[in-house]
Amino acid sequence: MPAITNIEDLRRVYERRTPRMFYDYAESGSWSEQTFRENVSDFSHIRLKQRVAVDMTGRSTKAQMIGEDVAMPVGLAPVGLTGMQSADGEIKAARAAEKFGVPFTLSTLSICSIEDVAQHTKKPFWFQVYTLKDDDFMRRLFERAKAANCSAIVVTVDLQVLGQRHKDIKNGLSAPPKLTVKSILNLMTKIPWGLEMMGTHRRTFRNVVGHAKGVTDPGSLSAWTAEAFDPALDWKRIAQFKEWWGGKMIVKGIMEPEDARRAAEIGADAIVVSNHGGRQLDGAVSSIRMLPSIVDAVGDKVEIHLDSGIRSGQDVLKALALGAKGTYIGRAFTYGLGAMGEQGVTKALEIIHKELDTTMALCGETDVARLGPHNLYVPQGFGDPTVLLP
Ligand code: GLV
Repeated sequence: MPAITNIEDLRRVYERRTPRMFYDYAESGSWSEQTFRENVSDFSHIRLKQRVAVDMTGRSTKAQMIGEDVAMPVGLAPVGLTGMQSADGEIKAARAAEKFGVPFTLSTLSICSIEDVAQHTKKPFWFQVYTLKDDDFMRRLFERAKAANCSAIVVTVDLQVLGQRHKDIKNGLSAPPKLTVKSILNLMTKIPWGLEMMGTHRRTFRNVVGHAKGVTDPGSLSAWTAEAFDPALDWKRIAQFKEWWGGKMIVKGIMEPEDARRAAEIGADAIVVSNHGGRQLDGAVSSIRMLPSIVDAVGDKVEIHLDSGIRSGQDVLKALALGAKGTYIGRAFTYGLGAMGEQGVTKALEIIHKELDTTMALCGETDVARLGPHNLYVPQGFGDPTVLLP
């Protein structure tokens, strides 16, 4: 295997190893994928200030996210179907995060269940909540997350209906994969993946199947989000979740200052500036461009995190310097997982950490807490999406 030195290297290995339908599921956005692409490319408009002759010894990337100590302010984002990218993928990713000292967020749409992950980890992880119509299921979900000792819930507020993802429809995405001529031909080229997958019994949506009513085709994400997800989710309901849960709550999927204010008002402990990795509303602005106005609006009221588009430690640094207190990687760790299992997630975290640390040093900073706009050249109008960037 060639040397792996950046996240793109992991993506290439992942692409070779993983069945097409799961690779496409991760590596795609909705509709034209404009937002998916701009989430990444908009980071490159921000330039870094090189500072020299600053003592760079004793650097630290240590920080806190919602009061929890983290080795660097980079969590693993909730990613659906992670256990299809690599057998028992959520357990592997959670263990890698635990060893590295960063938060792991388990998706409602995971393959391994809350209980599976809890059994195989020691430190509390975070649980991402989707809102299903079935109220009993929702209450039990919170109880299950409590019993598993989760230390925060992450309520995703931008997916009452699923954005249209052309590749998933064309591939007939399902977990486990439905056997068609096309999928069988592709699976035949992914033998190591298949052998690992045969060694586990965790191959469907184990948080939901057997727990929620109104799910008639549990293998198909698009079918059961359409029938079981609650399109009536509103701020009242989100506030109710905070009450039911009684612990830390992060609200994920905020893209407008007005929504950020609402989240702060209902007592969110943190918000995630996110457009769901460009998987929901295509045509939405990149999350990094929306960050400055949201920091202006609520930076003194609620902790602000950011996801969507982070593929390097430099991207992390830019988000922190613009005012985020935490960031998440989704695809970046999924590439590592699909490429090399738990070791690959660790590799992704090491890559991001090294890039963050080295960039911080070359910017003349020794502590992530001291990063700020003074480290950046941000083009005029960057935070104003009505201004076209060159
Ligand atoms: C689920 O959260 C997805 O984006 O597929």
